[in-house]
Parts: sequence; C-alpha cells; structure tokens
Amino acid sequence: MKLTTAGESHGKALVAIIEGLPAHLKVDTEKINGELALRQSGFGRGARQKIERDQVEILTGVRNNETLGSPMTLCIYNKDFENWSNCMSSGDCDESVMTAKSLTKVRPGHADLTGIIKFQQTDARNILERASARETAIRVAAGGVYKGYLSALGIEIGGYVSEICGVKDGGRYTFNELLRAKTTQTGMLDTQAERLAMDKIAELKKQGDTAGGAVEIRVKGLKSGFGNVMTYAEKLDARLAQGLMSIQAVKGVEIGAGFAVASTSGKDIHDEIFYDEKKGFYRESNRAGGIEGGMSNGEELVLRVAMKPIPTLMQGLRTVDYATKEQTKAASERSDVCAIFALEIIAEAVVAQVLADVISERLGGDTMEEVQERYKKLP
Ligand SMILES: Cc1cc2nc3c(=O)[nH]c(=O)nc-3n(C[C@H](O)[C@H](O)[C@H](O)COP(=O)(O)O)c2cc1C
Repeated sequence: MKLTTAGESHGKALVAIIEGLPAHLKVDTEKINGELALRQSGFGRGARQKIERDQVEILTGVRNNETLGSPMTLCIYNKDFENWSNCMSSGDCDESVMTAKSLTKVRPGHADLTGIIKFQQTDARNILERASARETAIRVAAGGVYKGYLSALGIEIGGYVSEICGVKDGGRYTFNELLRAKTTQTGMLDTQAERLAMDKIAELKKQGDTAGGAVEIRVKGLKSGFGNVMTYAEKLDARLAQGLMSIQAVKGVEIGAGFAVASTSGKDIHDEIFYDEKKGFYRESNRAGGIEGGMSNGEELVLRVAMKPIPTLMQGLRTVDYATKEQTKAASERSDVCAIFALEIIAEAVVAQVLADVISERLGGDTMEEVQERYKKLP
C-alpha cells in the first residue's frame, strides 16, 4: 500500500491518496469523522480548532461504502481558506495581502529558517504552510481507513497520554481500560494526574509558554511474523519508528521497555519462553513490546512516543528577522499550548498505516475476503 498526502495549512484542502487497498473493504465515513473530531480536541488547543470542523469527503475508489480496489482519494476542505484565499490561492494572489501575511521572524523549533534557505524563498510561509501539523488531519482520515482494514482482521489499536510536561500518568492499564482515554480532557486515565496536568497547561498558557508530553500506543490481535528479519528496511520496529518520527514535533519513540533497557541486565529484561500443550509457545512478560528480530511475536505491541513542547510561544523566543537580519522576537500566530491528546490520535493512525502496509505485503489479496482468509490460516 502507498499513502501520499498533500495540502497546505491555509490552502483550499488537504488530500490523501491510498494505493493498494483490496476491494470490498467497508468504509465508514462517520467513524473517520469521529477520529477527526478527536484529533481536534483535548485541553490546551488553540483557536484554529474553533474555525475548523474537519469532515472527510471521499472522492475516488469507493462505491456504496466499499472500496473498489482502485486508488482511494480522501479530502478535507480547510474552512479557514475563506479567510486566506487572496494570499493562498493557486491562482493570482493579492501582493499586498501576501506581504502582510509573510513571515520573516523565523520561529525557533520550526522549519522556517532552514526551509527558506533550502528552497530559496524570502517568506517562511512558503515552508510553514506544508510543515504545519495541519497535515496530520488527513493522515488521521487515512488512518481511519487502515483501522477498518485491521479491524476486519481482529486487530485493534488503543492508547493514552502518559505524560504532560513532567506530570506522569504511570498507571498500568488493560487494553480495554484504554478506551476511556478518548473521553477525558487530556487523554490521561488517572484523574489526579489529569487535574495536575490541566493546572500545568493553564499555568503555561498564562505565561505564554507551551507543553510537550508522551503517549503510549498498544496493538491487540496482531499475529506473529509481520515485518521481516531478513532485510533492515522491512523490520517492523524500524518501520514503526520511521512512521511515528515523521509526525511533527515527535522526538522519541520507544518500543517495549525502550530506553530502560540501557540500565538493566539481561536476566531482568528478556521475555523467557515457555511451552504448554494447550497454549503452545508463550511468554510471561512483554518487555520486548511485541517485537523480536524486527518481527511481531504475537504479544501486544507497546510503543511510546515523546513530543517536544509546541515551538510557537506567545511570549516569543529570540530570533533574527530573515529580511533585515535584526535580532527580534519570533512571530507567534495563534497556536496550541498542548496538543498531546491530538498526538495520541495521530500516532494511532500512523501505527495503523504501518501495520496495514506490512500485512498487505505479506498476505497480498485482491479482495478483503482473501486477506481475511489468509490471515485466519496463520498460526
Ligand atoms: C497535533 C499537533 C499540533 C501542533 N500544533 C502546533 C501549533 O499550534 N503551533 C506550533 O508552533 N507547532 C505546533 N506543532 C508542532 C509543529 O508542527 C512542529 O514542531 C514543527 O512543524 C517542526 O517540526 P519538528 O518539531 O518535527 O522539527 C504541532 C504538532 C502536532 C503533532
């Protein structure tokens, strides 16, 4: 399968094309819209979320709510384009509006400065419009399609927010308990941690500062043998890390025990293997996070993803104006204080994309029935 996304933050629309889907996959646009609404929610989001009410429109590849096996095109129109059409249109723009909206006080932590130099621009808007995490809306929509594919095979993805700016939710939750995370204000499950995190976000907002955090993503029902030990590029852990690191502001990915492996010894970290007539091979622990040798081993996948604090600060970080070369404060358009709830939803979508990819590579299948049949036969 191949996913291509396109679209600028204040452009007309965001678009995704998915190639390689089998025919007869049910597509539930209401469910996808539910995921899009979740991506827009969470305590600490900025004013843009009040303008947009993301709804997916499917343009190609689906008939009567079922895929045809042809390339599928998904589209989300940007409501804010109405306010930006005279400077973001693909046709003639108004030069004076373009100048008024241009950004030269390049923002630390953003693609602005490096992008201006690399693409030989004078206005960082020509970079930031694509670098923006608005792009993740269409990845979440595509993730909804991939989740449908996985769900037809009995594979489910869940997660929760495990940390916001130093406030940790250190609970050990069952997969079913994770479902409640979508109904809280922060994505945390522990109510005391959530209260502290909300106080922290409110305090940061007052100071014109921002928060980062971490999420845990888990996958239930993935059989063993997905990903490939034989080639480095096909290893499942490598592919998940690539996908998750491609999300804007993500700076760390852990699988299983993650960085904790560095401070432990071998006897305390590896998951010993047992055999039982009824159960077959099994492990009593899952510190590997469901992946050994770049292949799923049949246990739950456990991933953690760390996000840096939002780089646009209302208090303004020190920078240089690219046009005048004078020291100044970075530009600060309306911005999120904390987007960690959204990260959890986006990370689930990206994990769904990677898993659908590795499954379709191994099993092929022109129709969803063929994929299901082949998956069922696996040990
Ligand atoms: C869901 C989400 C929302 C974000 N919202 C903002 C925002 O409002 N303002 C901002 O400056 N950065 C925001 N970011 C982060 C930037 O998009 C990101 O830091 C920037 O594009 C630079 O990329 P890098 O951090 O991966 O190097 C957000 C990221 C995510 C995942």
